[in-house]
Amino acid sequence: MQTKMMIDGTFSDTASGAVFEVEDPATGETIAEVAAGGPEDVVHAVAKAHVAQQRWAATPPRDRSEILRRTWELMVAHADELAGLITAENGKPLSDAKGEVSYAAEFFRWNAEEAVRIRGQIGTAPAADKRIIVHHPPIGVVVMITPWNFPAAMITRKLAPALAAGNAVVIKPPKQTPLTSLRIGELLLEAGLPDGLVNIVPTTDSSSWVETAVAQTPVRMLSFTGSTEVGRILLRQAADRVLKTVMELGGNAPFIVFDDADLDAAVEGAMTAKMRHSAETCTAANRFYAQRGIAEDFTAALAERMGQVTVGRGTEEGVGCGPMIDADAVESLTRLVGSATGDGARIAVGGKAIDGPGHFFEPTVLGDVDHASEIAHTEIFGPIAPVYPFDDVDAVVAMANDTELGLTGYVYTRDLAKGLSVSERIQAGMIGLNKGLVSDPASPFGGMKQSGLGREGSTEGIYEFCETQYIATDW
Ligand code: SIN
Repeated sequence: MQTKMMIDGTFSDTASGAVFEVEDPATGETIAEVAAGGPEDVVHAVAKAHVAQQRWAATPPRDRSEILRRTWELMVAHADELAGLITAENGKPLSDAKGEVSYAAEFFRWNAEEAVRIRGQIGTAPAADKRIIVHHPPIGVVVMITPWNFPAAMITRKLAPALAAGNAVVIKPPKQTPLTSLRIGELLLEAGLPDGLVNIVPTTDSSSWVETAVAQTPVRMLSFTGSTEVGRILLRQAADRVLKTVMELGGNAPFIVFDDADLDAAVEGAMTAKMRHSAETCTAANRFYAQRGIAEDFTAALAERMGQVTVGRGTEEGVGCGPMIDADAVESLTRLVGSATGDGARIAVGGKAIDGPGHFFEPTVLGDVDHASEIAHTEIFGPIAPVYPFDDVDAVVAMANDTELGLTGYVYTRDLAKGLSVSERIQAGMIGLNKGLVSDPASPFGGMKQSGLGREGSTEGIYEFCETQYIATDW
């Protein structure tokens, strides 16, 4: 298991020699001691990235592409090992961890294909006094700050397009789950990535890490996935140096089930949208709106399915929901259930924390929830499904849009025209129409309103890591 930081193609102790413990959230036991980087290490990493980036920018796109493709192949070849690491440090069921590895690896394959297709434009100015040539050079050194809920995929979704476009990166992996990122670093080197292009500096002191990183002159961009609250702080810090930012922030997804929906399909979609990766995703369905005629059946069917989910260690056979990341997460879920029931909600199934060791919570369905309750306006990040009955389209669209966190929405109806028109009215960057899963490397991932800035994945993702330069000329 790799536990040292990665700078300039070498794994080493930090300048201070400090380490921190990584825990298995299913047991609370320490599984590794990882190098704890400080400001000197960040300065060193940025300097190395700066040098390496200049050579990389001049490397033919085909060569960049081949390295990314080899990384995809290596991740696939090491899928079981990577999934084991993800489950050990994050806790998610092994089946979800395997799904994450394949999702994460796919960003390398996709961007290997995009690396050779970065397009520019040429045109004639309206006055015909010049040609306008537009092209897209890389940005330079990019700082990436990634979350613990997808220890592999939230890194590769940024890293693969950044490298494909000719950038170098310095990554702050989450302190809860640094091990997967360090193993991916090793695989990148094995795939032939030149030294210095990817630098991974774990830390427990995020504030000084970020403050140091964004102050370094070669750093030109900050890409972050995490909460809206932290995103706002980072945006303020980035403003001091006018850094380009891509922000993938919080979600509070509505999941709308109309009377005419296929009930079985809606419940299946609801289980996926809520429960994948132990319900700790920002795309998770957070508010279930069921039209009055189907609300009772939908709530009962969802409660039955949630009640059948096996909670336990992610390594155990048949487990559908692993531990939450830490004790604070369980405390927050307990409080949300308490405040919802205090406002009149009824518990259809679950509702409580499960005794430790580890940080477990029962898959929970709440019926007849008051839309004014705190839970309707909080990103739950755990296995609680509150159901809110509604009567008509305008009312549900208004409730669905009653959030600043417009990341994802889900709509279930057999009437495709209604489904499309409601989808268009939802203020969210991604909509699942009769689908409980929207994430795909080929689609633009990102939110509206305070859910973020920019997009990751698809053909758009790579341009986030590019500048636009225009050359005025004639011949
Ligand atoms: C996230 O929860 O941050 C990402 C979810 C996904 O990519 O599916």
